[in-house]
Amino acid sequence: MNITMIGTGYVGLVSGACFSEFGWNVTCLDRDADKIAALEDGQIPIYEPGLEPLVARNVKAGRLHFTTELKTAVRHADAVFLAVGTPSDPHGRADLSFIHAAADELADALEGFTVIVTKSTVPVGTGREIARRIRARRPELDFEIASNPEFLREGAAVEDFLRPDRVILGVEGERAAELLQTLYRPLALLQKPMVITGLETAEVIKYAANAFLATKITFINEIADLCEKVGGNVQDVARGMGLDGRIGPKFLHAGPGFGGSCFPKDTRALVQTGQDAGAQQHIVEAVVAVNEARKAAMADKVAEACGGALSGKTIGLLGVTFKPNTDDVRESTALDLVPALQQAGATVQAFDPVGMDNAKPLLPDVAWQEDAYATLEGADALVLLTEWNEFRGLDLARVKHLLAQPVVVDLRNVYTPQEMNAAGLDYYSVGRPPMRVIEG
Ligand code: UDX
Repeated sequence: MNITMIGTGYVGLVSGACFSEFGWNVTCLDRDADKIAALEDGQIPIYEPGLEPLVARNVKAGRLHFTTELKTAVRHADAVFLAVGTPSDPHGRADLSFIHAAADELADALEGFTVIVTKSTVPVGTGREIARRIRARRPELDFEIASNPEFLREGAAVEDFLRPDRVILGVEGERAAELLQTLYRPLALLQKPMVITGLETAEVIKYAANAFLATKITFINEIADLCEKVGGNVQDVARGMGLDGRIGPKFLHAGPGFGGSCFPKDTRALVQTGQDAGAQQHIVEAVVAVNEARKAAMADKVAEACGGALSGKTIGLLGVTFKPNTDDVRESTALDLVPALQQAGATVQAFDPVGMDNAKPLLPDVAWQEDAYATLEGADALVLLTEWNEFRGLDLARVKHLLAQPVVVDLRNVYTPQEMNAAGLDYYSVGRPPMRVIEG
């Protein structure tokens, strides 16, 4: 089977490489000639564990190809996946200009029966609109439209694709259903469930799933605020809740607010879709607002730990990516926190294992450091923002020695108050009472 993947961003590149791993002949297409040249040369444009050897292996086996030539890439394709970006427009709606441009180009280039599949997260109704556009341009073209949303997480993308909880196939016709089920047969053999449904339903499933997870995080974040006020421990609350099989333990880690390329954009887009459709999504609206406020409030938390004022203080920040195992800083809390700290008069010195190149242009006036310990030297507080593994086992005696003031603000609850106090450090975390050495 011949598959073409249009767009080599996170979703497109990982999906294309993984489909070739299933044994299919895959061509990944992108307009960006430099990106395609780099990929042909074996260079992976994103940091994603396991992706590089997977690409190399399948390129070598002759199953995975890269090109900028749409016409030749799609002519003999059995299925064409659209995995181009859908960024937020200024109103929070998904900007579909890339999708529409790709659909128009496709319409002009296709030959023979083709299944056209949306893989990137697209607003409800997009699949049908793509079909309408293509039909208007080429009324005689034999094609079916389908929606196959992707649920992979950055940092675990390959594993998530190869071992998903489920595969969602939104189809209009028999031929698309059959072809997509064949495509995913390796997963059916692993007994991964497939949900076969209509086009709009598949599109809603993607937004509903992401918004639900974002809601879960936001819910526990507000419970964390409550715990801080009443003297509870949010980790124990999450455990106590999560053991209820109806709730489940995942996505109940309180933190500095969710970020990344999906949750913020998709929750905003769902709010817009609900408004446009006359079915207001009040809960998701609240999630968007609460999460934005939370990111903005993290600087106050640091200020409080520093005795109220940040003017003249030096903050040692560990982690700027929106989560570990990625170089992605999109909508990371760091982008709110650092400017807020600086505006309040603090100097920020920071380190991230792989995210600094992406963060540097977005966060001016930060003194970037070579490692965690250099970041703490002379700082009035350590702020742990991203729970990279290498920040989980810091030598606390060394931390204490390096810091000018013995203050740790752990926004990911990586450490326990007891171990911090034992090392002589005042400890402020999320949803747990602060513990100062003198009181400890
Ligand atoms: C998410 C979805 O998980 C994935 O299914 C979808 O395809 C794309 O969006 P991703 O953005 O890569 O994936 O990261 P994820 O691991 O879901 O984390 C998103 C954000 O939520 C991060 O900022 C993370 O730190 C935060 N988070 C996650 C929490 O604060 N607490 C949690 O319990 C879980």
